[in-house]
Amino acid sequence: MKLASGYKAFCEAAQKNYPDQTKPGGNLDWAIALSSVVTSESSDRFAKPSARGWESSFHAKLFPSYSTKVGALAMTYKGLMNVKTPFDLALYTRLIWELQPGTILELGSLQGGSGLWFADQMSALCENPGEVHSFDLNIKCIHASAKHPLLTFHQVDLSDVATFDESLLMRLPHPWLVIDDAHVQIFSIFSYLRRFLVSGDYYVFEDDPLRADKEINDGLQLVEQSGFLVDTYYTDAFGTNLTCAPNAWLRKS
Ligand SMILES: C[S@@+](CC[C@H](N)C(=O)[O-])C[C@H]1O[C@@H](n2cnc3c(N)ncnc32)[C@H](O)[C@@H]1O
Repeated sequence: MKLASGYKAFCEAAQKNYPDQTKPGGNLDWAIALSSVVTSESSDRFAKPSARGWESSFHAKLFPSYSTKVGALAMTYKGLMNVKTPFDLALYTRLIWELQPGTILELGSLQGGSGLWFADQMSALCENPGEVHSFDLNIKCIHASAKHPLLTFHQVDLSDVATFDESLLMRLPHPWLVIDDAHVQIFSIFSYLRRFLVSGDYYVFEDDPLRADKEINDGLQLVEQSGFLVDTYYTDAFGTNLTCAPNAWLRKS
């Protein structure tokens, strides 16, 4: 196991100074195991979608209290709806820090709360904060308070990819993080957008893969044929596929 830089020296010093914690199975063993997660290095991190299994109970695990007042209220940000599970918020934070995206493209703006959250995350986590572009048909729903210097909303009918501004897509800096949270013809949109993605870019399909049906399986085959691999560091961070995008945190090879 490769340790984070400086970590080996830390462990050696701990072994000397804290023998109780460094006995087999003690805190040090736990920390060493954790360090592989911190550095996110593992040979089986990236997997073909077809090599991954499905479990039918994602929804119940992710939204056990979805219908309760507390569960619904938890999905807000700065007073606006931000319909993401706590697991996924933590995963995006990690990915934005790791990827340092030049552009985040969000399909499905709703009130603008998630776009605002992405823009704030980008500001906080990226050395050179890029741009967040959020697309929706119903831009009247976007709240006046969803404003940020990095954030731009666009009106697009995602059932017709011709409504995308191709010159905008051509100029947006990479790496890209694309989040499809609109649930409209998701694989047709992927099929259109994939030509703009380059190696290292990420594409996340939220919610639809929770269905894990034939349409999703066929769609993920197209994704695999297009050179995307499941990043299991993200899908499995809290337990296998404990995310609203099971098997769908995808990185272009
Ligand atoms: C699940 S909500 C987005 C949630 C938001 N990203 C969040 O995390 O809070 C889905 C959004 O997709 C948008 N939508 C539905 N059909 C669309 C279409 N044909 N074109 C563009 N957007 C559409 C809806 O207006 C809605 O705002």
